[in-house]
Amino acid sequence: MSALRAVVTGASSGMGAETVRRLRALDWDVVAVARREEELTALAEETGCDWIVADMTSDESVAAMAEQVLAGGPVNSLVANAGAAFGNDTVENAGLDDWAGMFDLNVLGVVRCVKALLPALEESGRGDIVIMSSTAGHIVYEGGGGYVASKHGAHSVAATLRLELAGRPVRVIEIAPGMVATEEFSRKRLGSQEAADKVYEGVEKPLTADDCADAVVWTLTRPHHFNVDLMVIRPIAQAAQHKVARNQGL
Ligand SMILES: NC(=O)c1ccc[n+]([C@@H]2O[C@H](COP(=O)([O-])OP(=O)(O)OC[C@H]3O[C@@H](n4cnc5c(N)ncnc54)[C@H](OP(=O)(O)O)[C@@H]3O)[C@@H](O)[C@H]2O)c1
Repeated sequence: MSALRAVVTGASSGMGAETVRRLRALDWDVVAVARREEELTALAEETGCDWIVADMTSDESVAAMAEQVLAGGPVNSLVANAGAAFGNDTVENAGLDDWAGMFDLNVLGVVRCVKALLPALEESGRGDIVIMSSTAGHIVYEGGGGYVASKHGAHSVAATLRLELAGRPVRVIEIAPGMVATEEFSRKRLGSQEAADKVYEGVEKPLTADDCADAVVWTLTRPHHFNVDLMVIRPIAQAAQHKVARNQGL
């Protein structure tokens, strides 16, 4: 049997890059997608993955990415992982450009990729769509409004799509991580390393990017009749969004 082939978006850092590493270690063919070419070429050198520069907020860019993917052969799995949080606004002070940007990337970015690759995923006879949402897609918190709304959107897309694809050979899998200390996510959200460090202060072992990649790859490597609808993962120190054990040596 020829190798399974995956497209991983948001692969230039964090969970996406680790997912590429893990899939390549299992001999999958992988196309890594993001905007930053330098990070992608370094990952390609390290892992032997293919890479494509694309912007998930652009219809044209996603269409061109899909065309290039399909020219390279069949595709089995889409890991729709690209995403971001911009800021910490309360609803009453919402920066609408940031909110629109999060919706464009975290919801429409997923939908653009699904639309572009679904025919090929279905044609493979063994297709998967993994949507990286967040616990923010299932619970709300103060100051998280824009991100929370967008990730609730990603969750809704996953749940709706699963219903719509019933009877067709494509699994829809949602992974919802809680506190994950990836290198860039909180820094980009809050604008400084100092602010980012505070998020994880006193939490001895937040989840890592590799923990999340492990979850993605576990779901993808189940027998194909076995669909993980939703996997919520958190560090042991985070019992709920607002219940985080700090400085307790966990
Ligand atoms: N870290 C957490 O605490 C956490 C928790 C739950 C869920 N999540 C979700 O998990 C996913 C991965 O997060 P992470 O922590 O690994 O974050 P990260 O390291 O910041 O990675 C985000 C990835 O998305 C890509 N990206 C951003 N905007 C893009 C665009 N317009 N077009 C294409 N790619 C774009 C980035 O690459 P380029 O900049 O090179 O394009 C990067 O590869 C995200 O969906 C995030 O919302 C994160």
